[in-house]
Amino acid sequence: MPLVAGNWKMHKTAAEAVRFINELRQRPLPPDVEVAVCPPFTALTEAARALAGSSIRLGAQDMHWEAQGAFTGEISPTMLLAAGCHYVILGHSERRQLFGETDAAVARKIRAAFAHGLIPMLCVGERLDEREAGRTDQIVTDQTEAAVAELSAEQIRRLVIAYEPVWAIGTGRSATADEANRVIGVIRRGLERFRDASVHTRILYGGSVTPENAAEFFGQAEIDGALVGGASLDAAKFMAIVKAASKDVT
Ligand code: 13P
Repeated sequence: MPLVAGNWKMHKTAAEAVRFINELRQRPLPPDVEVAVCPPFTALTEAARALAGSSIRLGAQDMHWEAQGAFTGEISPTMLLAAGCHYVILGHSERRQLFGETDAAVARKIRAAFAHGLIPMLCVGERLDEREAGRTDQIVTDQTEAAVAELSAEQIRRLVIAYEPVWAIGTGRSATADEANRVIGVIRRGLERFRDASVHTRILYGGSVTPENAAEFFGQAEIDGALVGGASLDAAKFMAIVKAASKDVT
């Protein structure tokens, strides 16, 4: 089933999150699309309460790898689980670029997420200078391999990956659907080489996805959904993207 997840980044208070979720819940969800929202930490508990009885999943945007300890400012996997999270976004390019997160830290977080029963959404993607130097395929393959190196085939199957070219994030300049499909194919072939050829990991596209361009991405063979930033903050736009992922025309 395709997955459409909203990464709210540093947007919405708890009260705003509840208002958004209530608005979302008034609209019928297509039965063949999985939907997730990823609010900031401070809105998770209230968001989980607002989502009770709904099929919409809750995700967080980052976490520490330890269950508890002296890590001022950090949030642990057990805390996310207790708050009602199913998913956790890990290795987002904003964390890598602005907060110095390394492949090694991301790999550790991914293992911790699985160990505690959360499903990680691993983000990978090249910067513009890397794309211009022809290094896109190498970068996404290296980032993916670093993150999955110590995972079992079963964990790799449950993992969600989001291909988010850094130059397409928040810029209004999305990758073409063809190119996103090609790079996601490269990531998938890399996973297959690395592990079991039968593993089908869901790989999403992210980067300036809008109601206008979503259907083009979802029409591609390799693309299993979208991780949406800006357009996920508006219930009508987010819902239009969710609907674009559905094959159900009724
Ligand atoms: P935009 O959809 O705002 O480009 O953000 C994409 C993203 O970073 C999702 O994680």
